[in-house]
Amino acid sequence: MEKIVIKTGDSVSEILVGAGWEMVHELLPESGVAILTDRNIFRIYGDKFPDFPVFQVDAGEASKKIRVVESLAGELLETGIDRDGIILGIGGGVVCDLAGFLASIYMRGIRCAYVSTSLLSQVDASTGGKNGVNLDGAKNVLGCFKQPEFVICDPEMLETLTEEEYHSGLAELIKTALIGDRKLFELIENNRAGISRRDPGLLSMCISMAVNFKAAVVTEDERETGLRRLLNFGHTYGHAIEMYKSYRHGYAVAAGMELASRFSLSRGMITREEFERIKDLLNSYGLLPGHDIPDDEIIHLIMKDKKKSGNDISFVFLNGIGKAVAEKITVKEAAEFYIQSKTDK
Ligand SMILES: NC(=O)c1ccc[n+]([C@@H]2O[C@H](COP(=O)([O-])OP(=O)(O)OC[C@H]3O[C@@H](n4cnc5c(N)ncnc54)[C@H](O)[C@@H]3O)[C@@H](O)[C@H]2O)c1
Repeated sequence: MEKIVIKTGDSVSEILVGAGWEMVHELLPESGVAILTDRNIFRIYGDKFPDFPVFQVDAGEASKKIRVVESLAGELLETGIDRDGIILGIGGGVVCDLAGFLASIYMRGIRCAYVSTSLLSQVDASTGGKNGVNLDGAKNVLGCFKQPEFVICDPEMLETLTEEEYHSGLAELIKTALIGDRKLFELIENNRAGISRRDPGLLSMCISMAVNFKAAVVTEDERETGLRRLLNFGHTYGHAIEMYKSYRHGYAVAAGMELASRFSLSRGMITREEFERIKDLLNSYGLLPGHDIPDDEIIHLIMKDKKKSGNDISFVFLNGIGKAVAEKITVKEAAEFYIQSKTDK
């Protein structure tokens, strides 16, 4: 097991990678614990949950809304969870985001911790302290920063993920490799069979590398003013594709990463060989579904990007595999590149 410690402001968060999730029993106090999970996870793992009150939400993004938070808060109150209580989220990104958000506002803030169960949440969502709920479909509009006390990432839990969810998480893993860790990229590139078989030892290594990178970024830039923006690699086009095609997040981000890599190639920031390696890796996990956003719609979809300020966006380019830079470009430039890339393919 590797323990990665994140210190931000006056909080300390421990990410435990490669640990069996049942160790959570040892990390919890004797009382005052409320467990939040989704119905899927409860069906698969519920019989091994620690013996505390469990609150279940429906699986999926639709549960990330303020009405669910309100109803959960009522249930916490009824159960007698007070200021000394702790909320343990056991689930993927949705459960972790909900648990973190609820813990940050319930009685002006109580403790929280996660058992992170999806690949996407292990490599991304549960590290960094961001949480949030959606507002009428607008993603993460209400949210804040709160570091969980600990996060357990047990790669053996990934065995029960559907193929689609697993691949969606792989896209975020590849993203981390592309922006911050060339060795991680090579590890994924050279071990495709092991990754496809979900080899826990291999995944443990990959998750540790991804969490270490994210931890370093978050420690330096908790509030997303600079370095943390690099984590949005692939997301400008990815969000547009997600909105237009309703793909799962990771698939849309993968398509966005292919485009952002192509954009980087057109600026001479990566070589043709590097571009082909990136495309080949994404393709080998079936991560490049088609998207053909009409020319007159792409600009409007990019305009909806939360990371936009005025007519500019901070676009993340690759500067070689394992290194990224954010540069301001106009929304028009981003849209024009998308349109041009359709004829280049
Ligand atoms: N806070 C952050 O920094 C951050 C970063 C990235 C994404 N997110 C958020 O994360 C969410 C997406 O996370 P997600 O992809 O984990 O979605 P999710 O939590 O909805 O999980 C996806 C599906 O997989 C199931 N599942 C999870 N773990 C499983 C397991 N071990 N076995 C079987 N089934 C399992 C869930 O029940 C669900 O049906 C989005 O809401 C996104 O906004 C947050």
